[in-house]
Amino acid sequence: MTSTTLHPSLAAKTVLVTGGSRGIGADTARAFAAQGAKVGVVGRDTAALADVVAGITESGGTALALTADVTDAAAVASARDAVEFQLGPVDVLCAFAGGQGYPVRSTELTEQRWREVLDADLTSAFLSIQAVLPGMVERGSGSIITMSSTAGRQPGQANLAYAVANAGIVMLTRHLATELGPQGIRINCLAPTSILTEKVRANMPPAVQDQVAAIHPLRRLGLPADVTEAALFLASDAASYLTGLTLDISGGRVTN
Ligand SMILES: NC(=O)c1ccc[n+]([C@@H]2O[C@H](COP(=O)([O-])OP(=O)(O)OC[C@H]3O[C@@H](n4cnc5c(N)ncnc54)[C@H](OP(=O)(O)O)[C@@H]3O)[C@@H](O)[C@H]2O)c1
Repeated sequence: MTSTTLHPSLAAKTVLVTGGSRGIGADTARAFAAQGAKVGVVGRDTAALADVVAGITESGGTALALTADVTDAAAVASARDAVEFQLGPVDVLCAFAGGQGYPVRSTELTEQRWREVLDADLTSAFLSIQAVLPGMVERGSGSIITMSSTAGRQPGQANLAYAVANAGIVMLTRHLATELGPQGIRINCLAPTSILTEKVRANMPPAVQDQVAAIHPLRRLGLPADVTEAALFLASDAASYLTGLTLDISGGRVTN
C-alpha cells in the first residue's frame, strides 16, 4: 500500500520487518519502502519473500529478502548481520511475525502447542529485539514497534496461549520503554483487531465478516493500511516523544 502521509524522517532509514512475507508485515515493508526507507524483509517462505521484495524493487524501492525462523536466535542474528551488511545499521525494527490465534479450547491446548505459540508470538519478538538492541544502544537511537492483538487486551475467542503471548508483548513494550528511553531508543506496540489480510479474507466468510464488523463501534473490520499507517507514524520523528504506548487499532472495540 502507498501511504497518503509523507514521513520525510523515514527516508534512507534501515527498517527490519519480521513477518514481512505476507499480511500486515508485507504491507508494512511496502509502506516503509514507499517512504524511501531501505527494508529488510524477514519470513520463512522464500518464494513469498521474493514476491514482496520484487514488488518493492519494481516500484523503485530498496528491499532485501531474509529467510529466517524468528524463534531461532542464531537465524535472527544472521538476518540482522545480512541486513546490516547490505543496507546499513537497523534504525527501525517492526517485530510483527506471529499469528497463531485460532481458537482452541483451553482443555485441548497441549503443552506442546502452548510452547509453540509462546515461541512464535512472544519469544520471537524478544529475540528480534535482542538482535538489534546492541547496535541501537551503541548509536544511542532506534525505534522498535511490537505487535500485540486485541486478543492480548481483553478476553475473546483466540486461544489462551495467543492471548497470554500478546498480553506479554504489551508489558515487554512498557518494560523496555522504561529501560531504553534514557538510551535514546523508543518502543511502542500495535494491538489490532481482526484485520482483513489475504488470510483473513480467505478464512472468514463474508457473513461472518459482517458479524465481526458489527461488534466494532466503527462498524468495519480493520485494513492492513490501518495498521501500517500507525507503524509509519510511530517509527517517524513525528512520534519522537512517544514510547511505551500500545495503540489499539480496533475501530473503538478496545478503548483503554
Ligand atoms: N490479521 C489480523 O487480524 C491480526 C490481528 C491482530 C494481530 N495480528 C498480528 O499481526 C501479525 C501479522 O499477522 P498477519 O495476519 O499479517 O499474519 P499472516 O498473514 O499469517 O503472516 C504471518 C507472518 O509472520 C511470519 N512468521 C510467523 N512465524 C514465523 C517464524 N517463526 N519465523 C519467521 N516468520 C514467521 C510469516 O512468515 P512465513 O509465512 O514466511 O513463515 C508471515 O510473514 C501477527 O503477529 C499477528 O498475531 C494480526
